[in-house]
Amino acid sequence: MSLNKLLYIETFGCQMNDRDSEIMGQLLKQVSFEATDDMNAADAIIVNTCSIRGKAEQKAYSLLGALRKKKKENPNLIIAATGCVAQQEGKTMLSRMPHVDLVIGPKHIYQLPALFERAAKQKKGIVAIDDASPFRIPLFLPSLETGLPHKRFVTIMQGCNNFCTYCIVPFTRGREISRETGDILCEVSHLVAGGVKEITLLGQNVNSYGNDQPKETRTNFASLLRRVAAIKGLERLRFTTSNPKDLSDELMCCFAELDVLCPHFHLPVQSGANAVLKRMNRKYSIESYLEKVEKLRGYCPEIVLTTDIIVGFPGESEDDFAATMGLIEKVRYHGAFSFKYSSRPPAKSCDFDEIVSEEDKSRRLALLQCRQKEITLERHKEFIGQDVELMVEGQSKAAHGQWAGRSDTNHIVNFHCQETLVPGQIVRVIITEACFNSLRSTLVKL
Ligand code: 5AD
Ligand code: SF4
Repeated sequence: MSLNKLLYIETFGCQMNDRDSEIMGQLLKQVSFEATDDMNAADAIIVNTCSIRGKAEQKAYSLLGALRKKKKENPNLIIAATGCVAQQEGKTMLSRMPHVDLVIGPKHIYQLPALFERAAKQKKGIVAIDDASPFRIPLFLPSLETGLPHKRFVTIMQGCNNFCTYCIVPFTRGREISRETGDILCEVSHLVAGGVKEITLLGQNVNSYGNDQPKETRTNFASLLRRVAAIKGLERLRFTTSNPKDLSDELMCCFAELDVLCPHFHLPVQSGANAVLKRMNRKYSIESYLEKVEKLRGYCPEIVLTTDIIVGFPGESEDDFAATMGLIEKVRYHGAFSFKYSSRPPAKSCDFDEIVSEEDKSRRLALLQCRQKEITLERHKEFIGQDVELMVEGQSKAAHGQWAGRSDTNHIVNFHCQETLVPGQIVRVIITEACFNSLRSTLVKL
């Protein structure tokens, strides 16, 4: 391939996709594709898709559809669809979007350079989505030249075995596959040696890390956290995401034990009603969830909890919804991502009856989001007057002329500073003001 080709990647969805996009960019750099932010200048465009809700899938299709014109103008342009929609749709995507050259599932991204080479020669669409079994997430050391200098994601597992009835993930990302512990430690050490200060371990259900490994040699998630935390030079460790049913005492204890483990836990509850949780196949009750929340706060009183909630799941009654509203009052989450239920074939809930009307879904979502916003602000106000350590992110995007840092509790905090700061630098501030999405502060120590 000739030198100086330009690659544009549009990433939708979760942090797993962010990490996959980073890997794809790095792989293609090895075959002379430079990253560009300008889609119009690109010789190749990757649309890394998400299919978690109908809206996400529509977004991917609408961008891919818009690329038809570009392909017409420049027949040598390579267009690739990757991620969950690509995996799910395969050939169907090619027939709907014949201008797309490549449809590549998440397990096939490591073959990207060879697939691109083939696509450049062959004028027929290529589909790579077959289950590449036995699949092992390879050791692929991230480039330190590109990407954020101070914080990175490290994938520890892929897929999910839980089959929550609303969820498409087990169908797009397949069954759980844990990465080799040695590979994970090697990747984190490599990043930290290169100056990275914060690592987020990623997986659809990190709490079940290791469950697919032989019992005798298995490392569970708590042990993995302890081993990663021991890597010298690492300052902050986070992870996402967890199913509450698998939250063990041993893991909770890590929040008391490990200094570098940040006091923030994203613990998706989905609903406050046991009847709904049962139909969702979540395998926990609200009582056991609340018990775990209490225990977690016992181990780490300052822990910040965030969650995901779905409203309008089939059969969700007004009483069920009221139970969810009651739950957010009880837990007083620092933040919540909430969504209207979206039917995602072939997930099981697509066949459930007692569909909640669009109108009821919208009303419930608005009520939930309005109250959660107030609770979030109340929670933010609790920080006023506190002396907090921030990791500098860069210039603030929202507060003009200010710097932005992130607290260990995962809050964005803005502050004034005349000096030039670098991402990853630690500063101390006193929190002075609470807003809905961020906090304001005064710098006390550089
Ligand atoms: N409809 C609405 N929300 C969903 N989520 C997952 N599947 C669906 C769906 N079919 C939400 C869940 C999950 C988050 C990542 O997306 O709350 O935790
Ligand atoms: Fe989907 Fe449930 Fe697995 Fe999360 S735990 S990815 S919601 S099936």
